[in-house]
Amino acid sequence: MERAKGERLLLMASPLQGHITPLLNLAEILFSRGFSITIVHTLFNSPDPSSYPHFDFHAIADGISHAEASTLDGLHLSDLINVRCKDPLEEYLAAVLSQSKERVPCFIADASLLFIQPVCHHFKLPRLVLRTGGASSFLAFASFPLLRQKGYLPIQESRLEEPVLDLPPFKVKDLPKIPSQDPEAFYELVCRFVESCRASSGVIWNTFEELESSVLTKLRQDLSVPMYPIGPFHKHFLTSSSTSFTSLLAPDKSCMSWLDTQEHRSVVYVSFGSVSTISKVEFLEIAWGLANSKQPFLWVVRPGLIRGSEWLEPLPSGFLENLGGRGYIVKWAPQEQVLSHPAVGVFWTHNGWNSTLESICEGVPMICTPCFADQKVNAKYASDVWKVGVDLQNKLERGEVEETIKKLMVGDEVNEIRENALNLKEKASVCLKQGGSSYSSLDSLVSDMLSLECSTSKAH
Ligand code: UDX
Repeated sequence: MERAKGERLLLMASPLQGHITPLLNLAEILFSRGFSITIVHTLFNSPDPSSYPHFDFHAIADGISHAEASTLDGLHLSDLINVRCKDPLEEYLAAVLSQSKERVPCFIADASLLFIQPVCHHFKLPRLVLRTGGASSFLAFASFPLLRQKGYLPIQESRLEEPVLDLPPFKVKDLPKIPSQDPEAFYELVCRFVESCRASSGVIWNTFEELESSVLTKLRQDLSVPMYPIGPFHKHFLTSSSTSFTSLLAPDKSCMSWLDTQEHRSVVYVSFGSVSTISKVEFLEIAWGLANSKQPFLWVVRPGLIRGSEWLEPLPSGFLENLGGRGYIVKWAPQEQVLSHPAVGVFWTHNGWNSTLESICEGVPMICTPCFADQKVNAKYASDVWKVGVDLQNKLERGEVEETIKKLMVGDEVNEIRENALNLKEKASVCLKQGGSSYSSLDSLVSDMLSLECSTSKAH
């Protein structure tokens, strides 16, 4: 196993929970292989340096307030970051590359940070891309020009059930979609972000070969840059929960004691991640579906989850009390710990990539309710390819919710799904051991980074 010495890596995440966690986990992995680490970050949603005394941090003044961010969709937030962060990053790199006593072999940046490519190019600093989502969703993004040419995009309501012949196993309804006033801008951003990966010195993936092997093979041909599937990142270390450090919201750990009081595999854990929102009507259908299923449930209702509400106001008074302790609601949970708790039987998820991977790593079957972007692709894979979940996206209605929960908790179907989930869990664990696919890929990454030529580092 090769180790770095006297080498400093600069890393930068997109400032959203689903991107910050994998980047910090990647930084930990590379630190454990001898690299010194500097996390470059926006002031907006900045990570907490006190959790990482062994890293250096450098903040970039982005001028984005929470008030401003709350009025923007993901697309416009991304635009703003790409415009406002370029000059400050250029100034910072000029200083760091001329002063660093250590060699800086490359910059590792989230795939969506497009402004980093020209800045690195200017300094002739090699750039590696971190793709925090799955390879399958990336392939769907990379196929956008073809899908447009063949008329599958923009998505037409009348064609939702039509198979996408050029991109199995998808139907039109499974293609990535973002709720934006400006779908054309989304299309453009996606094309630029795929091109930016193609122009990089390599792509690091939070996935593993055995999970997405055929897609990774296709992407290797298509991108023609080195590929490093070294995930699942959060399982590289034995310590149980990486998100207890990377979380932007404080997890409510009281739910762990509640889980301790529940029977083995009896609890439905419900969370739709850090960005998705639902309507009041959908919230109430979920609430009644959970109540009517008669299963215990742990539900993350993030402040802001319900459009137009602060928190739980739409819930009928006495709702939880009438369940006699069968329901537990928190604003934010220690998700990795929750999923590894023996009482959890099912994860009802929006299929953000991190949640999907965390569920796979614990062998927990999923109920899939994707909302936007890559989530539809991840959900399709969970239910139809890996067969570790069931789909619940067409009708968020209490009867349907109750029936789906029962199907996964007590029906015959669950045995096969659970067996598939446990098989995948095993593969996710084996790939990280010596000789495993992610272990070997990490070796290649470290060795390739050590041999990268950087013309600007003072130390070399
Ligand atoms: C976003 C996008 O929505 C998603 O589609 C993309 O794949 C990544 O970026 P997010 O919606 O937050 O992410 O979902 P996800 O990727 O699942 O990440 C959520 C993270 O927050 C997970 O690591 C999860 O463990 C953590 N989490 C979530 C908690 O720690 N506590 C919670 O209560 C809920």
